[in-house]
Amino acid sequence: MSTAISPTAYNYKVVRQFAIMTVVWGILGMGLGVFIASQLVWPELNLGLEWTTFGRLRPLHTNLVIFAFGGCALFGTSYYVVQRTCQTRLISDTLASFTFWGWQAVIVGAIITLPLGYTTTKEYAELEWPLAILLAIVWVTYGIVFFGTITKRKTKHIYVGNWFYGAFIVVTAMLHIVNHASLPVSFFKSYSAYAGATDAMIQWWYGHNAVGFFLTTGFLGMMYYFVPKQAERPIYSYRLSIVHFWALITLYIWAGPHHLHYTALPDWAQSLGMAMSIILLAPSWGGMINGMMTLSGAWHKLRTDPILRFLVVSLAFYGMSTFEGPMMAIKTVNSLSHYTDWTIGHVHAGALGWVAMISIGAMYHMIPKVYGQKQMYSTSLINVHFWLATIGTVLYIASMWVNGITQGLMWRAINDDGTLTYSFVEALQASHPGFIVRALGGAIFASGMLFMAYNVFRTVRASNPVEAEAATKIAVVGAH
Ligand code: HEM
Ligand code: HEM
Repeated sequence: MSTAISPTAYNYKVVRQFAIMTVVWGILGMGLGVFIASQLVWPELNLGLEWTTFGRLRPLHTNLVIFAFGGCALFGTSYYVVQRTCQTRLISDTLASFTFWGWQAVIVGAIITLPLGYTTTKEYAELEWPLAILLAIVWVTYGIVFFGTITKRKTKHIYVGNWFYGAFIVVTAMLHIVNHASLPVSFFKSYSAYAGATDAMIQWWYGHNAVGFFLTTGFLGMMYYFVPKQAERPIYSYRLSIVHFWALITLYIWAGPHHLHYTALPDWAQSLGMAMSIILLAPSWGGMINGMMTLSGAWHKLRTDPILRFLVVSLAFYGMSTFEGPMMAIKTVNSLSHYTDWTIGHVHAGALGWVAMISIGAMYHMIPKVYGQKQMYSTSLINVHFWLATIGTVLYIASMWVNGITQGLMWRAINDDGTLTYSFVEALQASHPGFIVRALGGAIFASGMLFMAYNVFRTVRASNPVEAEAATKIAVVGAH
């Protein structure tokens, strides 16, 4: 198809591929989330098979939602944004295509190996060394395509969205390579190059910055392009966006030790992590405010535009989770929240409310454009999706707050003679209603993705991708 396209037109083929896979992996990853949430309500759903136990499927859920769903959304939107804001085609179609197929191969590798029990045991970095190496090669290629495209840009300056995408690409490469340093002993087993507290610190330096750079900075790149575009307003403050960028990337990298409070990690490192996390509130909210205020004079659009609603509500959840995070990083608060469902609620306030909702909004904006359509097949279906996503997220996080605080208080309750007031099973029983509400909220959120799939299917069926690309030839002189 793309052979018919002039080389001066944008490469939308790879954007389309990543966009479709965002929806596919979203459904599978969230569907699996609903399944493991149900396992916590009805343990029989572990099915008595080692491959389908909670312990094996949980990391598959996190890999599918973060790297498959979130990753495809980031690849797809970054390729779209970098071409449009630099007014030039991707530097290489072959390398871009390699990143698509290579990334899908890594995901398929995860789907096969994680249920079989092959894992490094490092959270969010579970994939064993052959897959980790493939991932590193794909990622470096991604960097070459992205930055190569920036170097041949036709515009004078580099739009701020690209700064965020760029930092996400560079830092993710650094984190992945450093944290995965290991000694392979067989094709399926390796041992970390680090030991003890050093290993833990490197793992959570990785883990927190996976949140900071993969789940935050990349999606902020998305925010800086799609919010102004959908609101048809320039970004509220370009100056604030630059301050936001430098402050965010400077601070995030230090906050990892808040995952290791009250452990063998030196106390000063824990306190440093806590202090940096609290300061992090400022740039996080600076970014949120910049996105929100972009709607100045366009608030009325929220009444009729469900895509804009997705984008704005995602920013509200971003603001909420980046307020909650610094609070949880305070050692005394963390002594209650750590190990409880409060953390899980915090994670999904960010994951469902922020990451998934901004991705969904961006997809609804972008998919018609790359398929040569004016808009999605049905705006009312987007509206239905918006409400399912919002209600699902609220049920998920509210039930986890209740569970988390209940668990924390029950675990620490002590009788006059120093014995524990409650057994672990009693705390588990108290959590059962919350688990049911969470599974329900998750199912509501995931069902919205099915409406999206149908809407995308109808949009694609009516599409004309060749024309969509050909039309971008003129964009070289037009506005991005
Ligand atoms: C329908 C939606 C979803 C449901 C029902 C769901 C459910 C779950 C469940 C039951 C867990 C395990 C909790 C535990 O161990 O107690 C979990 C963990 C996790 N999920 Fe989801 N999830 C959903 C969507 C997502 C999305 C979209 C993302 C990311 C973009 C995500 C990221 C995570 C992460 C990072 C963890 C691990 C949290 C931790 O270790 O603290 N989830 N999810
Ligand atoms: C200023 C911003 C933020 C700060 C300071 C922060 C802080 C924290 C803290 C203190 C924890 C609990 C650590 C523990 O007790 O083990 C945590 C867990 C977590 N947060 Fe955040 N958070 C922030 C924003 C976010 C956002 C926006 C997301 C998602 C998009 C997110 C995703 C996660 C995940 C996945 C975990 C669980 C890690 C694990 O134990 O597996 N955080 N965060």
